[in-house]
Amino acid sequence: MAREKMHSQITDESQSAFRRYQRLIVGSTRLGYTLKYELIVAIGSLAPGALGLWLRQKLYRRLLMRAGRGVFFGAGVTLRHPCKVAVGNHVVVADGCLLDARGDSNRGIRLGDNVILGDRATLRCKDGDIVIGNNVGIGLNSSLSAVGGNVLELADEVMIGPYAYLGGASYHHDRLDIPISHQGQDLKGGIKVGYGAWIGARAVIMDGVTIGRDAIVATNAVVNKDVPDYAIVAGVPARVLRTRRAEPVQAEVESPDPPIRLGCGGPSDPMPVLVQE
Ligand SMILES: CC(C)(COP(=O)(O)OP(=O)(O)OC[C@H]1O[C@@H](n2cnc3c(N)ncnc32)[C@H](O)[C@@H]1OP(=O)(O)O)[C@@H](O)C(=O)NCCC(=O)NCCS
Repeated sequence: MAREKMHSQITDESQSAFRRYQRLIVGSTRLGYTLKYELIVAIGSLAPGALGLWLRQKLYRRLLMRAGRGVFFGAGVTLRHPCKVAVGNHVVVADGCLLDARGDSNRGIRLGDNVILGDRATLRCKDGDIVIGNNVGIGLNSSLSAVGGNVLELADEVMIGPYAYLGGASYHHDRLDIPISHQGQDLKGGIKVGYGAWIGARAVIMDGVTIGRDAIVATNAVVNKDVPDYAIVAGVPARVLRTRRAEPVQAEVESPDPPIRLGCGGPSDPMPVLVQE
């Protein structure tokens, strides 16, 4: 169970505190990499203002699996398991963000080109993967969570407003003789958000949901079922208000839509590409 596993990783006294820190935070038990992580994080968190931005741009890329050109890390950014984080070109990770690629067998976090993470946005893997396409904006204080082998995918051109929450998992809760926290997670595979979709402020998207391309999720909606392409949904639970496309067949003939592409890039892009089912 992920919760117990995480807890024991922190409290397991059969391992030294240093080893637990390496496994939970650094993502490597190699001493050389750990010292590099410590040094870079210490230097990167010292300097304020433009000097800090410049230092982190030069230094943090040395910890990541891959970092493209023109990547900015704001003040107070936390990196966990950075060796499983790959970011494209012209990515902005604003102040206070968390990139946590934690997990024993996961691939971690992939960000495409021109991605902006607003202040204090958190991308958190607990043995899951988060894959974000190109030209994606994630609002301040929004949180994306991929647990237990789930994959959370945002296609290109997706916008997410502030304080949204995507992912996580439910717990099994059939038994009354043991606490819910001991009954295990009820995983549904993760979330897909299609090309060009817009998720409003404070919306919650639950595990297992697919949001169609160019769909809109209204502010404060709780989405627990798939949302069709071009639909606008609102409410708790979210219901379709209307569709944005009145004549789908005619519109497609006259003006072909760009292809749906989930993931980070095209054939020549070294970033991994997700396959649309
Ligand atoms: C979904 C949204 C785009 C709809 O905008 P719209 O097309 O102009 O629709 P309207 O405001 O005319 O509302 C249409 C109906 O939906 C209802 N509605 C709109 N937003 C709603 C919401 N968040 N929850 C519940 N119902 C909502 C309206 O009350 C109205 O109902 P009615 O026809 O019974 O009066 C807009 O309401 C919204 O939520 N935008 C997100 C804003 C945001 O989060 N910004 C953060 C920065 S990214």
